[in-house]
Amino acid sequence: MVIKMNQGIFITLEGNDGAGKTTLCMNLICELEKLGYSTIYTREPGGSQIAEQIRNVLLKEENTNMDARTEALLFAASRRQHLVEVVLPALQEKKIVLCDRFVDSSLAYQGYARNIGIDEVWELNQFAIHDCMPHKTLFLKVSVETGKKRMALRGETNRLDLEEDDFHKKVREGYEILLKKFPERITVIDAEKGEQEVLQQALQEILEVLSQHE
Ligand code: TYD
Repeated sequence: MVIKMNQGIFITLEGNDGAGKTTLCMNLICELEKLGYSTIYTREPGGSQIAEQIRNVLLKEENTNMDARTEALLFAASRRQHLVEVVLPALQEKKIVLCDRFVDSSLAYQGYARNIGIDEVWELNQFAIHDCMPHKTLFLKVSVETGKKRMALRGETNRLDLEEDDFHKKVREGYEILLKKFPERITVIDAEKGEQEVLQQALQEILEVLSQHE
């Protein structure tokens, strides 16, 4: 199920909670559409009816006693459903798919921060994604403090947002490991900067990927 290069372009956004991925995605969609590209925004966990139901189980604040491996399996299940129902059909229509989180979130959150192991969670996800990897991943880099401030501004929280600072620090460390593991695919965006600067940097990266595949 490897994505063929004559299909659409699959871009994922990653980062700690509060990094600003959703705002950036909205801004990117706007700019790409202005440039005439057919684009869809979607998010994980969720993004399709069945995947959204799994999302509700995963993020419900009262599900505090969820086992780490159960969590990893549910994220992978949600990912599979979303890939088949949303991402692959859009790519076949030659669209640009902007996906808010993908497999790297599982590697950083479940693999590293929950101590299951990055390699173990990678193996588990291979069953779900079957080599279907993004052409490019943008990692929005912010400090844990900035992420926390932005989360507070956002107001609503979920089960994972409520984790202690140490957990969010570990997520951040997990991403640092992934940057070293996948240097070609993952590009760092300095998301401490203002909204417009972040947008311009991310847009340049995507336009470069597009130019390589046109
Ligand atoms: P969401 O409200 O979508 O947060 P955000 O806007 O920051 O993406 O909640 C998603 C939460 O799920 C977030 O805390 C990250 C976590 N998550 C994982 O732990 N593993 C995963 O594989 C994915 C996709 C998300």
